[in-house]
Amino acid sequence: MIVIKTIAETQQYIAHEKAAGKSIGFVPTMGALHAGHLALVARAKQSCDVVVVSIFVNPTQFTDASDLAKYPVTLEADMEKLEASGVDVLFLPSVVEMYPNEASKHTDYDLGYLDTVLEAAARPGHFKGVALIVGKLLDAVQPNQLFMGQKDFQQLQVVRKLIKDHNIPTELVSCPIVREADGLAMSSRNVRLHGEHREVATELSKALYQLKEDVGSKPLAEAKAVALAHLNSHPLIDVVYLETVNGHTLVPVTDLAEAPEVAALLAARVGGVHLLDNIILKP
Ligand code: PAJ
Repeated sequence: MIVIKTIAETQQYIAHEKAAGKSIGFVPTMGALHAGHLALVARAKQSCDVVVVSIFVNPTQFTDASDLAKYPVTLEADMEKLEASGVDVLFLPSVVEMYPNEASKHTDYDLGYLDTVLEAAARPGHFKGVALIVGKLLDAVQPNQLFMGQKDFQQLQVVRKLIKDHNIPTELVSCPIVREADGLAMSSRNVRLHGEHREVATELSKALYQLKEDVGSKPLAEAKAVALAHLNSHPLIDVVYLETVNGHTLVPVTDLAEAPEVAALLAARVGGVHLLDNIILKP
């Protein structure tokens, strides 16, 4: 695995590989890698000749400075995992490389409705930062395929819009959520869950699985209300939102017939940790 720290060298390397007829797969991350990230790498290796992973803790997507300061950094272990997974290139830029000046941190790009609801309402400005950095990373790596996790469902829709609105010649590949044995969706933030908080965190995925089962026998709105009541009954779980939405637009739906794809999206704070999970209810 080679490590490249500048955009210019990355572009040069990729141009060379593409000229040799190779396809490029890209997995952007913020490090603190776990099996969820490595599943994206494995999926990228299946369909691309060259796999590039980036590690960059992007300051512009953190709406809370203390969250940024607390973000786990485990670079040495990350590099070992990527090497063992057969990654070809690690793109490891500095903050100055990605944001050479203050102006480069700003964007007027309008994400529309996607930037007003759910995660965006809970963390204003977060997705503008995500779109900004993903755009910059795509410009550096120019991949044929981009591999991202369904775990961050709204982020996927934001990146889908970014690619479409800017005519970026990259195919977005959505990869399923990787979970711990007890169902908790893997996340770099899970290391901050301890004791009873770690235990109670499993209620999130349980509630979603129950919801999926219930929509077979109950109207969607009723199944959602049951799941919400169940989560709210736990004193250690602070539900930020539970919403059933059109999987493409994220507009709320109250009936499965309202959209071709329906997902239930959940965010909750457990022990001060912001956790996300979701489940596709249809198809
Ligand atoms: P990060 O949280 O490091 O996640 C990197 C990628 O891993 C994202 O596409 C995310 O959806 C995926 N991922 C995380 N947990 C997963 C799991 N349990 N199963 C499957 N995939 C999972 O998301 C970001 O970084 C950043 O916002 C980024 C896109 C890199 C921009 O800074």
